[in-house]
Amino acid sequence: MFSAPVAIFVAILGSLALLNAQSVDWFSSLPPCAQKCAIVAANRTGCDVKDIKCLCSSETFSSDYRKCIAKTCLTKDEYTVANDTLTKYCQSYDWTAGLPDCAKKCAIAAAAAAGCKITDTKCLCSSDIFLSEFKKCVYENCRLKEELIQVNSTISQICPDGPILF
Ligand SMILES: *[C@@H]1O[C@H](CO)[C@@H](O)[C@H](O)[C@H]1NC(C)=O
Ligand SMILES: *[C@@H]1O[C@H](CO)[C@@H](O)[C@H](O)[C@H]1NC(C)=O
Ligand SMILES: *[C@@H]1O[C@H](CO)[C@@H](O)[C@H](O)[C@H]1NC(C)=O
Repeated sequence: MFSAPVAIFVAILGSLALLNAQSVDWFSSLPPCAQKCAIVAANRTGCDVKDIKCLCSSETFSSDYRKCIAKTCLTKDEYTVANDTLTKYCQSYDWTAGLPDCAKKCAIAAAAAAGCKITDTKCLCSSDIFLSEFKKCVYENCRLKEELIQVNSTISQICPDGPILF
């Protein structure tokens, strides 16, 4: 038996390992029948197949991929692993997790105003409505310089080619 602090520490290590594995390679955890689908579907979105953040943010990747694995992953086990792997990795990817609390509701409201899904960073980054609504709301709600810096760095990660907001 672990004592409570040790168990917590082990749990933290476990989640760090998961996080690391995610950014390194979701692709290699797919069965071969699904890797082909991932490559083709990723190509259509313009994302690198290993860039899970980009793939999860795409409107079309998931449906293309799921349609394809239904045809190519013929055993139930393979299909289930292929299907669940994408779900699992995308659920744990949420860019708004990097925002300070004062800015989270701004991101959600601005995405809605722009007609983009909150996970569709391509849509968000190319929307003037999203960017201007988000900026306005953040200036109203985030008072601390540290908060603005944190928003700034999160936005520059999801919109690497986007305008400088703050
Ligand atoms: C990716 O797409 C481009 C054009 O859309 C195509 O020329 C290329 O062959 C594709 N690559 C793969 C690996 O499917
Ligand atoms: C595949 O994954 C999707 C998304 O999680 C889920 O809605 C669907 O039921 C899954 N399909 C099967 C056949 O398990
Ligand atoms: C925001 O990021 C840009 C580019 O990364 C930088 O030039 C700018 O100074 C940053 N603003 C703040 C308030 O940190």
